[in-house]
Amino acid sequence: MGEEAVIPGSDVELARGAMKLLEMISGYWVTQILRASAELSLPDHVAAGAATAEEISEREGSDPKATYRLLRAAASLGLVDDAGNGRFSVTPMGALLRKGAPGSLREMAIVQGAPLHWQSWGAFPDAVRKGGTQVRAALGLADGENGFDYLGEHPEEGAHFAAAMSNATGIVIGAVTEALDLEGVSVAVDVGGSTGALVHALMKSRPELTGAVLDLPQVADDAAQAAKEAGVSDRFRMVSGDFFVEVPAADLYLLKMILHDWDDAQCVTILRNCRASAKPGARAVIIESVVGGVGEPSFAALLDMNMLAVMHGQERDLSAFDALYVASGWRRVSVRPTGTSQFVQELVAV
Ligand SMILES: C[S@@+](CC[C@H](N)C(=O)[O-])C[C@H]1O[C@@H](n2cnc3c(N)ncnc32)[C@H](O)[C@@H]1O
Repeated sequence: MGEEAVIPGSDVELARGAMKLLEMISGYWVTQILRASAELSLPDHVAAGAATAEEISEREGSDPKATYRLLRAAASLGLVDDAGNGRFSVTPMGALLRKGAPGSLREMAIVQGAPLHWQSWGAFPDAVRKGGTQVRAALGLADGENGFDYLGEHPEEGAHFAAAMSNATGIVIGAVTEALDLEGVSVAVDVGGSTGALVHALMKSRPELTGAVLDLPQVADDAAQAAKEAGVSDRFRMVSGDFFVEVPAADLYLLKMILHDWDDAQCVTILRNCRASAKPGARAVIIESVVGGVGEPSFAALLDMNMLAVMHGQERDLSAFDALYVASGWRRVSVRPTGTSQFVQELVAV
């Protein structure tokens, strides 16, 4: 049976609109349901055979009745299915919240509900009124500190953030390696590369490539460990430093989800520092969301609000990116989709 036509202006249309709006208004409930499901490892326990609330609560030390109610909510969101007799099974979407699953979003679910994001978003209307993140007031940070300083001071949340970033890199890595011609590249620097997921993947695909991550000291140990696990330690260098001060020399610079953290002047400084140390014929690859037309459903437009709430940056359209490149000695020569909201832009030094 087809869906019944709804008469414009009718009570049915009003009720549907109200329900949709209510779901959006209470969207933050979903964030914390996902965070709790991830923190209590619901999908991992269910997949490992601990399929009832009692079994999970025993393993997690959680309240059995509240755990059952969480499972019921998770089932209504499509993360688990009711398998009868109080048992649950994991759906394919729920499996993406499992630890270590390819493309796992477990860490992202934890990060989005943890203090840096949660408390900054709590001050979001003020961020709009004042034109910038209220992260300092929201988290009691000192003057001049930013979200990355907070993560350095809170290593557990910092480790979740770094893992969330590496896992998200895993989703686009195939598209990026396909888009990139590494011919003639001998040194690649992953600028703000976190634990190095991107550069390690490129190094694995090209055995003669030497790679480095430039990032803050807080990720250094995990980046070195990740290089070991990827089997590329002998060709990898971790540079603990500040991309606003200096960037190591390279013939390929990788900047994934970096420019969107910063304002235009800060982006130009980072890009100029890359340009200043660039070897002859160097290229840069920018992997970022690109804002499209107004009114189109757009993850980039929503991510832009996250940048306003939590960081000091913004999402940009291609002309705004190009203005940054012109101001910093680079020129964009291509842009390719990755199948996600992110695009791969390739720049040449001018
Ligand atoms: C949004 S994350 C992106 C990480 C990685 N490129 C990715 O996409 O998975 C931004 C990274 O920039 C690093 N970062 C922030 N400020 C920095 C600075 N001043 N110098 C070097 N790295 C910095 C952070 O530690 C973090 O790893």
